[in-house]
Amino acid sequence: MGRHLQGLGLRDLTTFSDGMIRCWDDVAGTVQFSAPLNMAAIRDRVVLNARVLDLGCGYGRITSQLLSAGYENLRGYDISVKMIERAKTRYPQLDLKVADAAKLPEADNSVDTVVVSALFTSIPELQRRRAVADEIRRVLKRGGEVHGVEFLRERGAESGAFKSKAGIEMWHFEPEELRRLFTGFTRWESWCVNVPSLSGSPSAVLQFVAYDSA
Ligand SMILES: C[S@@+](CC[C@H](N)C(=O)[O-])C[C@H]1O[C@@H](n2cnc3c(N)ncnc32)[C@H](O)[C@@H]1O
Repeated sequence: MGRHLQGLGLRDLTTFSDGMIRCWDDVAGTVQFSAPLNMAAIRDRVVLNARVLDLGCGYGRITSQLLSAGYENLRGYDISVKMIERAKTRYPQLDLKVADAAKLPEADNSVDTVVVSALFTSIPELQRRRAVADEIRRVLKRGGEVHGVEFLRERGAESGAFKSKAGIEMWHFEPEELRRLFTGFTRWESWCVNVPSLSGSPSAVLQFVAYDSA
């Protein structure tokens, strides 16, 4: 376990490197995220008393949007202690905790909806992305749903590997590649949306929902 995580009662944060956590800690005070979750799809499909987890919640941007939309049975998790500290300062009313999304302190089949916004974009290694997708499947109840938004790679790009301006290794997706992470779900709906990236240049995201047909 990394030195900066000692004393927090965290165990087994082994699926994520210390270096990567430090990168997120370093930018936690200043970074502004912007990936737009499809809130209309969430409002359409998710009842207000659903138990919702926001994984890779950062400083609580999406978690607070969900609270404002009327979702109160909410919890956010992030690997970065500093992100959670910023979130708690800004949104003290939110239930936010430090944990690796691949090792959630949650029971099997206990969650109605998982939300991810640029979480998989922030996990450059395929095996770690798969570990997180498996963990989502474990905690979701039967009939549960994943609502997400992740960045797409530029047309013609040879690889999804990408380094952010802050020097953080990231992954940009082909739509089909993102779909494959959720092959355990029988239904998949997605919407491609153009957005300005953090650097201001145009980029695109895929908003999606993964669920099982009834
Ligand atoms: C691009 S930010 C997005 C934050 C937030 N979802 C939003 O859209 O405003 C990605 C976040 O995922 C967190 N993260 C990366 N890998 C993680 C993991 N394995 N488990 C939990 N959080 C993780 C990072 O610390 C960072 O705060």
